[in-house]
Amino acid sequence: MNVKQHKITMLGTGLIGMFYTKTLHDHRGADRVHTVYSRSAERASEFAKEWGIAKATDSMVEAINDPDTDIVVIGIPNHLHRQAIELAAAAGKAIFCTKPLAMNGIEALELLEIVEKAGVFHGYLEDLCYPPKTLKALESVKQGAIGQVTWTRAREAHPGPHSDWFWNPEQSGGGALIDMGCHCIEIGRNYIGKEVRPLEVMCWADTLVKPIKAEDNAIALIKYETGAISQVEVSWTFRGGMELKDEVAGTEGTIRIDHWLKTGFEMFSAGGTDEYVAEKAESDTGWVFPVGDEVHALGYQHMFTDMLDSLDEGKAPMESFYDGYIVNAIMDACYASAESKKWEPINLPLWRGGDSQVKKIGPKEYDQDHWLIKEEKMPDGKMKIILKVKATEEIIQKIT
Ligand SMILES: NC(=O)c1ccc[n+]([C@@H]2O[C@H](COP(=O)([O-])OP(=O)(O)OC[C@H]3O[C@@H](n4cnc5c(N)ncnc54)[C@H](O)[C@@H]3O)[C@@H](O)[C@H]2O)c1
Repeated sequence: MNVKQHKITMLGTGLIGMFYTKTLHDHRGADRVHTVYSRSAERASEFAKEWGIAKATDSMVEAINDPDTDIVVIGIPNHLHRQAIELAAAAGKAIFCTKPLAMNGIEALELLEIVEKAGVFHGYLEDLCYPPKTLKALESVKQGAIGQVTWTRAREAHPGPHSDWFWNPEQSGGGALIDMGCHCIEIGRNYIGKEVRPLEVMCWADTLVKPIKAEDNAIALIKYETGAISQVEVSWTFRGGMELKDEVAGTEGTIRIDHWLKTGFEMFSAGGTDEYVAEKAESDTGWVFPVGDEVHALGYQHMFTDMLDSLDEGKAPMESFYDGYIVNAIMDACYASAESKKWEPINLPLWRGGDSQVKKIGPKEYDQDHWLIKEEKMPDGKMKIILKVKATEEIIQKIT
């Protein structure tokens, strides 16, 4: 493969702008953030100095239209994604946009149409579908290691976000659900299969603790066409750090992944050194859970490798604006359900999956005449096989 060198415009100098720049500068050693935009010229210059970036500006238009750059990476608050995407598409640049793609499903669909009409490369920066553990698990699921997926659970919980705008739904589009549910939804969708249509949603969302006009906790169940359920759990009031975990149940197996908080790295420190431990860690004293390499563990490295390699090879990345649009549409249904307290349909005016090939989850055949219900080895070493007779629907057991 021909690895090209890219010069990048980075929009945003906050937490994600920093993670993205760090990752891009590590990546392949080839690509560089060349121009950085921040609201404040001072902050832009500071950031440029810190990361060795050639140009800094407080003009979004100037940053996007820099003739030296061919990619625009969007790492600014949610309500500004639209403006940035419109400008970058008009400039004919490749666009990598952070999550959530848009404030809602309608806006997300419009953004997809804009980039497709402009014919520019579009990548949805959903890092939590790219951690090495997740990529390995997704491959195992694809190979059939756990049979057909029946249920997924993705949980993201921490004590709340780090900047004012997240807490204002006019700038963020919602609360914990739009902020973190977007990750959990797309994780579940990857395991269940992107060709499987998400049908309807049941969601509880409430504002339990924080004095805000959005939900600080939510749980959603998303039902897919195969019958599979994807469970999404988010909290902005969880104490003890950041918890990121995924579980997948299949007809032939199970996967459990801890990404954050419990990572297999536990340290006790009596003194407290005021050192940074990990994103959203609440303490540097007592038992702490550090992370070896955050950008690797959170998927940023594999995500940008996919984005840049796909751009170079002229193909679509694993996560595109189409995926961002589906996620936004699912979140719209979550909000509708939280309001109505009923199952709400997912409105997808554009659907590119393959409905006709979808295989519904169902029983396993034991032989021509029986369905298998259960096999279990008993303490006496014998095997019990519980079966359903196809013709009579009688449930029987055999001991072998
Ligand atoms: N894992 C992830 O994928 C992940 C993690 C965190 C944030 N994000 C996303 O990245 C984006 C930015 O989040 P963040 O955590 O970096 O936020 P942040 O508050 O740390 O940084 C936001 C950046 O945007 C700028 N900004 C804020 N308000 C602005 C305004 N009104 N006009 C112009 N610029 C403004 C800030 O100056 C800063 O440079 C959001 O869309 C967020 O959802 C993604």
